[in-house]
Amino acid sequence: MRAVVLVGGFGTRLRPLTSTTPKQMLPVVDRPMIERVVRSLGDHGVTEAVLSLGYRPDAFIESYPDDTCAGVHLVYAVEPEPLDTAGAVRFAARAADIDDTFIVVNGDVLTDLDISALWSFHRERGGAGTIALTPVEDPSRYGVVPIDGDGRVLAFVEKPAAGTAPSNWVNAGTYVLEPEVLDRIDAGRRVSIERETFPGLAAENALFAVQSDAYWLDAGTPASYLQAQFDIIDGRRGRLEAAIHPSAAIDATATVEHSVVMAGASVGPGVELLDSVVLPGARLEAGSSIVGSIVGARSRIGAEARLRDLTVVGHEVEVASGLELSGARIPEVE
Ligand code: GDD
Ligand code: MG
Repeated sequence: MRAVVLVGGFGTRLRPLTSTTPKQMLPVVDRPMIERVVRSLGDHGVTEAVLSLGYRPDAFIESYPDDTCAGVHLVYAVEPEPLDTAGAVRFAARAADIDDTFIVVNGDVLTDLDISALWSFHRERGGAGTIALTPVEDPSRYGVVPIDGDGRVLAFVEKPAAGTAPSNWVNAGTYVLEPEVLDRIDAGRRVSIERETFPGLAAENALFAVQSDAYWLDAGTPASYLQAQFDIIDGRRGRLEAAIHPSAAIDATATVEHSVVMAGASVGPGVELLDSVVLPGARLEAGSSIVGSIVGARSRIGAEARLRDLTVVGHEVEVASGLELSGARIPEVE
Protein backbone atom coordinates (compact mmCIF):
# COMPACT_ATOMS: atom_id res chain seq x y z
CA MET A 1 0.00 0.00 0.00
CA ARG A 2 1.22 3.46 -0.85
CA ALA A 3 0.19 6.75 0.73
CA VAL A 4 0.56 10.42 -0.15
CA VAL A 5 1.12 12.51 2.98
CA LEU A 6 0.29 16.21 2.61
CA VAL A 7 2.88 18.22 4.51
CA GLY A 8 3.42 21.28 2.33
CA GLY A 9 1.22 23.88 4.02
CA PHE A 10 2.58 27.02 5.70
CA GLY A 11 1.14 26.20 9.12
CA THR A 12 0.03 29.82 9.54
CA ARG A 13 -2.18 29.12 12.54
CA LEU A 14 0.86 27.85 14.47
CA ARG A 15 3.07 30.88 13.84
CA PRO A 16 5.63 31.79 15.11
CA LEU A 17 6.48 28.10 15.82
CA THR A 18 6.09 27.41 12.09
CA SER A 19 7.95 30.52 10.91
CA THR A 20 11.10 28.40 10.70
CA THR A 21 9.89 24.81 11.22
CA PRO A 22 7.17 23.18 9.12
CA LYS A 23 4.17 22.18 11.23
CA GLN A 24 4.68 18.44 10.81
CA MET A 25 8.32 18.68 12.00
CA LEU A 26 7.21 20.23 15.32
CA PRO A 27 7.68 17.73 18.14
CA VAL A 28 4.75 16.01 19.79
CA VAL A 29 6.07 14.81 23.20
CA ASP A 30 9.28 13.13 22.03
CA ARG A 31 9.20 13.00 18.24
CA PRO A 32 8.12 15.05 15.23
CA MET A 33 4.43 14.95 14.34
CA ILE A 34 5.27 13.39 10.95
CA GLU A 35 6.77 10.32 12.65
CA ARG A 36 3.53 9.64 14.49
CA VAL A 37 1.53 10.02 11.27
CA VAL A 38 3.83 7.77 9.23
CA ARG A 39 4.02 5.17 12.01
CA SER A 40 0.25 4.76 12.09
CA LEU A 41 0.25 4.35 8.30
CA GLY A 42 2.92 1.66 8.64
CA ASP A 43 0.83 -0.10 11.30
CA HIS A 44 -1.90 -0.51 8.65
CA GLY A 45 0.39 -1.95 6.01
CA VAL A 46 1.64 1.16 4.19
CA THR A 47 5.16 0.43 2.96
CA GLU A 48 5.85 3.66 1.08
CA ALA A 49 4.85 7.21 1.99
CA VAL A 50 5.18 9.96 -0.60
CA LEU A 51 5.72 13.22 1.27
CA SER A 52 4.05 16.04 -0.61
CA LEU A 53 6.35 18.93 0.26
CA GLY A 54 6.23 22.62 -0.43
CA TYR A 55 7.12 24.86 2.50
CA ARG A 56 10.65 24.18 3.83
CA PRO A 57 11.15 20.73 2.30
CA ASP A 58 14.77 20.53 3.54
CA ALA A 59 13.58 20.16 7.13
CA PHE A 60 12.11 16.75 6.20
CA ILE A 61 14.81 15.61 3.81
CA GLU A 62 17.59 16.39 6.32
CA SER A 63 15.79 14.62 9.16
CA TYR A 64 15.42 11.32 7.28
CA PRO A 65 18.62 11.02 5.26
CA ASP A 66 18.16 7.28 4.72
CA ASP A 67 14.65 7.88 3.29
CA THR A 68 13.07 5.86 6.09
CA CYS A 69 10.71 7.13 8.79
CA ALA A 70 9.17 4.81 11.42
CA GLY A 71 10.06 1.82 9.24
CA VAL A 72 8.28 3.20 6.17
CA HIS A 73 10.13 4.06 2.95
CA LEU A 74 9.86 7.76 2.07
CA VAL A 75 9.66 9.38 -1.34
CA TYR A 76 9.94 13.18 -1.51
CA ALA A 77 7.85 15.16 -3.99
CA VAL A 78 8.72 18.86 -3.80
CA GLU A 79 6.24 21.21 -5.50
CA PRO A 80 7.71 24.06 -7.52
CA GLU A 81 4.97 26.28 -6.02
CA PRO A 82 2.06 25.57 -3.63
CA LEU A 83 -0.56 23.63 -5.61
CA ASP A 84 -3.16 23.36 -2.81
CA THR A 85 -4.41 19.98 -1.59
CA ALA A 86 -5.59 18.32 -4.84
CA GLY A 87 -2.80 19.82 -6.92
CA ALA A 88 -0.34 18.49 -4.33
CA VAL A 89 -1.87 15.00 -4.40
CA ARG A 90 -1.67 14.90 -8.20
CA PHE A 91 1.89 16.21 -8.27
CA ALA A 92 3.10 13.72 -5.61
CA ALA A 93 1.25 10.72 -7.03
CA ARG A 94 2.62 11.40 -10.52
CA ALA A 95 6.14 11.92 -9.16
CA ALA A 96 5.96 8.51 -7.45
CA ASP A 97 4.30 6.77 -10.45
CA ILE A 98 1.24 5.76 -8.43
CA ASP A 99 -1.09 3.82 -10.73
CA ASP A 100 -3.13 1.78 -8.27
CA THR A 101 -5.55 2.46 -5.36
CA PHE A 102 -3.76 4.65 -2.81
CA ILE A 103 -4.20 6.47 0.49
CA VAL A 104 -3.99 10.21 1.15
CA VAL A 105 -3.59 11.74 4.60
CA ASN A 106 -3.33 15.28 5.91
CA GLY A 107 0.01 15.28 7.72
CA ASP A 108 -1.23 17.27 10.72
CA VAL A 109 -3.87 14.74 11.80
CA LEU A 110 -3.15 12.45 14.74
CA THR A 111 -5.56 9.55 14.82
CA ASP A 112 -6.18 5.91 15.70
CA LEU A 113 -8.45 5.53 12.67
CA ASP A 114 -8.68 2.03 11.20
CA ILE A 115 -7.26 2.59 7.71
CA SER A 116 -7.58 -1.11 6.86
CA ALA A 117 -11.35 -0.92 7.49
CA LEU A 118 -11.57 2.24 5.36
CA TRP A 119 -9.76 0.40 2.57
CA SER A 120 -12.16 -2.59 2.77
CA PHE A 121 -15.21 -0.32 2.73
CA HIS A 122 -13.80 1.46 -0.32
CA ARG A 123 -13.41 -1.90 -2.12
CA GLU A 124 -16.99 -2.94 -1.24
CA ARG A 125 -18.57 0.30 -2.47
CA GLY A 126 -16.41 0.57 -5.58
CA GLY A 127 -16.44 4.39 -5.78
CA ALA A 128 -13.68 6.64 -7.07
CA GLY A 129 -12.86 7.68 -3.52
CA THR A 130 -13.75 7.06 0.12
CA ILE A 131 -13.32 9.59 2.93
CA ALA A 132 -13.05 8.88 6.66
CA LEU A 133 -15.35 11.04 8.79
CA THR A 134 -15.02 12.06 12.42
CA PRO A 135 -17.57 13.80 14.71
CA VAL A 136 -16.63 17.28 16.01
CA GLU A 137 -18.34 19.91 18.15
CA ASP A 138 -17.66 22.88 15.86
CA PRO A 139 -17.73 21.76 12.22
CA SER A 140 -17.05 25.27 10.86
CA ARG A 141 -13.27 24.68 10.95
CA TYR A 142 -13.52 21.55 8.80
CA GLY A 143 -15.00 19.97 5.67
CA VAL A 144 -18.56 18.88 6.46
CA VAL A 145 -19.76 15.70 4.72
CA PRO A 146 -23.41 14.57 4.84
CA ILE A 147 -23.97 10.98 3.58
CA ASP A 148 -26.92 8.71 2.84
CA GLY A 149 -27.62 5.30 4.41
CA ASP A 150 -25.23 3.53 2.01
CA GLY A 151 -22.36 5.87 2.80
CA ARG A 152 -22.72 7.83 -0.43
CA VAL A 153 -21.51 11.44 -0.06
CA LEU A 154 -24.37 13.87 -0.70
CA ALA A 155 -22.32 17.06 -0.51
CA PHE A 156 -18.92 18.34 0.59
CA VAL A 157 -18.99 21.72 2.29
CA GLU A 158 -15.56 23.07 3.27
CA LYS A 159 -15.58 25.34 6.32
CA PRO A 160 -19.27 26.31 6.40
CA ALA A 161 -20.26 29.50 8.23
CA ALA A 162 -20.85 28.83 11.94
CA GLY A 163 -24.31 27.40 12.59
CA THR A 164 -24.98 26.40 8.97
CA ALA A 165 -23.30 22.96 8.86
CA PRO A 166 -25.62 20.19 7.62
CA SER A 167 -23.93 17.62 9.90
CA ASN A 168 -21.33 17.30 12.68
CA TRP A 169 -19.43 14.63 10.79
CA VAL A 170 -16.39 16.12 9.11
CA ASN A 171 -13.64 15.10 6.77
CA ALA A 172 -10.98 13.40 8.90
CA GLY A 173 -8.29 14.12 6.29
CA THR A 174 -7.82 10.45 5.38
CA TYR A 175 -8.89 9.14 1.96
CA VAL A 176 -8.65 6.05 -0.22
CA LEU A 177 -8.55 7.12 -3.88
CA GLU A 178 -8.52 5.42 -7.26
CA PRO A 179 -5.85 6.71 -9.64
CA GLU A 180 -8.62 7.90 -12.03
CA VAL A 181 -9.23 10.76 -9.57
CA LEU A 182 -5.82 12.15 -10.55
CA ASP A 183 -6.99 12.60 -14.15
CA ARG A 184 -9.66 15.06 -13.07
CA ILE A 185 -7.20 17.36 -11.30
CA ASP A 186 -5.72 20.04 -13.58
CA ALA A 187 -1.92 20.06 -13.68
CA GLY A 188 0.13 23.16 -12.89
CA ARG A 189 -2.44 25.23 -10.99
CA ARG A 190 -3.79 25.40 -7.47
CA VAL A 191 -6.66 22.93 -7.01
CA SER A 192 -8.36 22.30 -3.66
CA ILE A 193 -9.49 18.72 -3.08
CA GLU A 194 -12.06 20.03 -0.59
CA ARG A 195 -13.54 22.85 -2.70
CA GLU A 196 -13.22 21.40 -6.19
CA THR A 197 -12.41 17.69 -6.53
CA PHE A 198 -14.64 16.23 -3.80
CA PRO A 199 -17.73 18.36 -4.58
CA GLY A 200 -17.33 17.31 -8.24
CA LEU A 201 -17.10 13.60 -7.38
CA ALA A 202 -20.05 13.90 -4.96
CA ALA A 203 -22.20 15.45 -7.71
CA GLU A 204 -21.49 12.36 -9.83
CA ASN A 205 -22.38 10.00 -6.93
CA ALA A 206 -18.83 8.60 -7.11
CA LEU A 207 -17.70 9.48 -3.58
CA PHE A 208 -18.28 7.49 -0.37
CA ALA A 209 -17.50 8.05 3.29
CA VAL A 210 -17.34 6.07 6.52
CA GLN A 211 -18.00 7.44 9.99
CA SER A 212 -15.59 6.54 12.78
CA ASP A 213 -15.37 7.65 16.39
CA ALA A 214 -11.75 6.55 16.80
CA TYR A 215 -9.38 9.04 18.43
CA TRP A 216 -8.84 11.98 16.05
CA LEU A 217 -7.23 15.40 16.33
CA ASP A 218 -6.05 18.02 13.82
CA ALA A 219 -2.98 19.42 15.58
CA GLY A 220 -2.81 22.57 13.45
CA THR A 221 -3.68 25.28 16.02
CA PRO A 222 -1.95 26.23 19.30
CA ALA A 223 -4.85 24.80 21.34
CA SER A 224 -4.92 21.51 19.44
CA TYR A 225 -1.10 21.23 19.33
CA LEU A 226 -1.21 21.39 23.15
CA GLN A 227 -4.14 18.97 23.28
CA ALA A 228 -2.33 16.42 21.09
CA GLN A 229 0.40 16.20 23.73
CA PHE A 230 -1.93 16.13 26.73
CA ASP A 231 -3.84 13.25 25.13
CA ILE A 232 -0.60 11.26 24.98
CA ILE A 233 0.62 11.98 28.53
CA ASP A 234 -2.90 11.49 29.92
CA GLY A 235 -3.10 8.01 28.36
CA ARG A 236 -5.89 8.70 25.88
CA ARG A 237 -3.78 7.19 23.07
CA GLY A 238 -3.10 3.72 24.46
CA ARG A 239 0.53 3.50 25.58
CA LEU A 240 1.29 6.17 28.17
CA GLU A 241 4.39 8.24 27.33
CA ALA A 242 6.59 10.18 29.74
CA ALA A 243 5.83 13.90 30.00
CA ILE A 244 9.30 14.89 31.17
CA HIS A 245 12.22 13.91 28.94
CA PRO A 246 15.01 12.16 30.87
CA SER A 247 17.51 14.81 29.74
CA ALA A 248 15.37 17.74 30.99
CA ALA A 249 16.52 19.42 34.22
CA ILE A 250 13.77 20.30 36.68
CA ASP A 251 14.74 22.21 39.82
CA ALA A 252 13.49 20.56 43.01
CA THR A 253 11.62 23.75 44.01
CA ALA A 254 9.71 24.03 40.70
CA THR A 255 6.06 23.03 40.36
CA VAL A 256 5.39 21.10 37.15
CA GLU A 257 1.87 19.82 36.51
CA HIS A 258 0.22 18.40 33.42
CA SER A 259 2.96 19.65 31.12
CA VAL A 260 5.46 18.31 28.60
CA VAL A 261 9.13 19.22 29.06
CA MET A 262 11.20 18.10 26.09
CA ALA A 263 14.85 17.05 25.70
CA GLY A 264 17.48 19.30 27.23
CA ALA A 265 14.99 21.88 28.51
CA SER A 266 15.52 23.35 31.97
CA VAL A 267 13.02 24.50 34.57
CA GLY A 268 14.55 26.77 37.19
CA PRO A 269 13.93 27.32 40.92
CA GLY A 270 10.41 28.29 41.95
CA VAL A 271 9.06 28.03 38.41
CA GLU A 272 5.36 27.26 38.02
CA LEU A 273 4.59 25.24 34.87
CA LEU A 274 0.98 24.16 34.32
CA ASP A 275 -0.86 22.76 31.28
CA SER A 276 1.99 23.80 28.99
CA VAL A 277 4.52 22.44 26.53
CA VAL A 278 8.22 23.34 26.58
CA LEU A 279 10.19 22.44 23.45
CA PRO A 280 13.76 21.05 23.40
CA GLY A 281 16.49 23.15 24.93
CA ALA A 282 14.21 25.92 26.24
CA ARG A 283 15.09 27.57 29.58
CA LEU A 284 12.58 28.75 32.15
CA GLU A 285 14.37 31.00 34.61
CA ALA A 286 13.74 31.39 38.34
CA GLY A 287 10.24 32.26 39.43
CA SER A 288 8.74 32.37 35.95
CA SER A 289 5.16 31.17 35.63
CA ILE A 290 3.83 29.46 32.49
CA VAL A 291 0.21 28.38 32.30
CA GLY A 292 -1.57 26.96 29.23
CA SER A 293 1.19 28.14 26.91
CA ILE A 294 3.89 26.92 24.50
CA VAL A 295 7.61 27.76 24.66
CA GLY A 296 9.57 27.13 21.45
CA ALA A 297 12.90 25.35 21.13
CA ARG A 298 15.95 26.97 22.76
CA SER A 299 13.98 30.02 23.91
CA ARG A 300 14.62 31.66 27.26
CA ILE A 301 11.88 32.85 29.58
CA GLY A 302 13.36 35.43 31.94
CA ALA A 303 13.00 35.36 35.72
CA GLU A 304 9.54 36.15 37.11
CA ALA A 305 7.98 36.41 33.61
CA ARG A 306 4.33 35.31 33.40
CA LEU A 307 2.86 33.54 30.33
CA ARG A 308 -0.88 32.86 30.25
CA ASP A 309 -3.82 31.85 27.99
CA LEU A 310 -2.23 30.21 24.99
CA THR A 311 0.79 32.45 24.72
CA VAL A 312 3.03 31.02 21.99
CA VAL A 313 6.75 31.81 22.12
CA GLY A 314 8.65 30.89 18.95
CA HIS A 315 12.07 29.25 18.74
CA GLU A 316 15.26 30.92 20.02
CA VAL A 317 13.38 33.87 21.49
CA GLU A 318 14.29 35.79 24.64
CA VAL A 319 11.37 36.83 26.84
CA ALA A 320 12.50 39.57 29.23
CA SER A 321 12.42 39.07 32.98
CA GLY A 322 9.16 40.12 34.61
CA LEU A 323 7.23 40.44 31.33
CA GLU A 324 3.53 39.50 31.55
CA LEU A 325 1.95 37.99 28.44
CA SER A 326 -1.56 36.73 27.84
CA GLY A 327 -2.68 35.12 24.57
CA ALA A 328 0.42 36.63 22.92
CA ARG A 329 2.55 35.43 20.01
CA ILE A 330 6.24 36.24 20.46
CA PRO A 331 7.58 37.42 18.07
CA GLU A 332 4.30 38.96 16.95
CA VAL A 333 2.70 37.56 13.79
CA GLU A 334 0.25 39.29 11.45
N1 GDD B 1 2.00 19.89 -0.50
C1 GDD B 1 1.08 20.75 -0.09
N2 GDD B 1 0.79 21.83 -0.88
N3 GDD B 1 0.46 20.51 1.08
C2 GDD B 1 -0.49 21.40 1.48
C3 GDD B 1 -0.83 22.54 0.72
C4 GDD B 1 -0.15 22.76 -0.54
O1 GDD B 1 -0.38 23.73 -1.27
N4 GDD B 1 -1.81 23.20 1.40
C5 GDD B 1 -2.04 22.51 2.54
N5 GDD B 1 -1.24 21.41 2.59
C6 GDD B 1 -1.20 20.37 3.63
C7 GDD B 1 -1.01 20.90 5.05
O2 GDD B 1 0.36 20.89 5.42
C8 GDD B 1 -1.80 19.89 5.89
O3 GDD B 1 -1.03 18.76 6.26
C9 GDD B 1 -2.90 19.42 4.94
O4 GDD B 1 -2.47 19.76 3.61
C10 GDD B 1 -4.27 20.07 5.21
O5 GDD B 1 -4.10 21.47 5.23
P1 GDD B 1 -4.57 22.34 6.49
O6 GDD B 1 -4.19 23.74 6.21
O7 GDD B 1 -4.14 21.71 7.75
O8 GDD B 1 -6.15 22.23 6.30
P2 GDD B 1 -7.29 22.35 7.41
O9 GDD B 1 -6.89 21.70 8.67
O10 GDD B 1 -7.74 23.77 7.47
O11 GDD B 1 -8.50 21.53 6.72
C11 GDD B 1 -8.27 20.26 6.17
O12 GDD B 1 -8.19 19.26 7.18
C12 GDD B 1 -9.41 19.05 7.92
C13 GDD B 1 -9.17 17.91 8.88
O13 GDD B 1 -8.06 18.10 9.65
C14 GDD B 1 -9.42 19.93 5.18
O14 GDD B 1 -9.07 18.75 4.50
C15 GDD B 1 -10.74 19.77 5.92
O15 GDD B 1 -11.75 19.34 5.00
C16 GDD B 1 -10.60 18.70 7.00
O16 GDD B 1 -11.81 18.58 7.75
MG1 MG C 1 -5.12 20.93 9.44
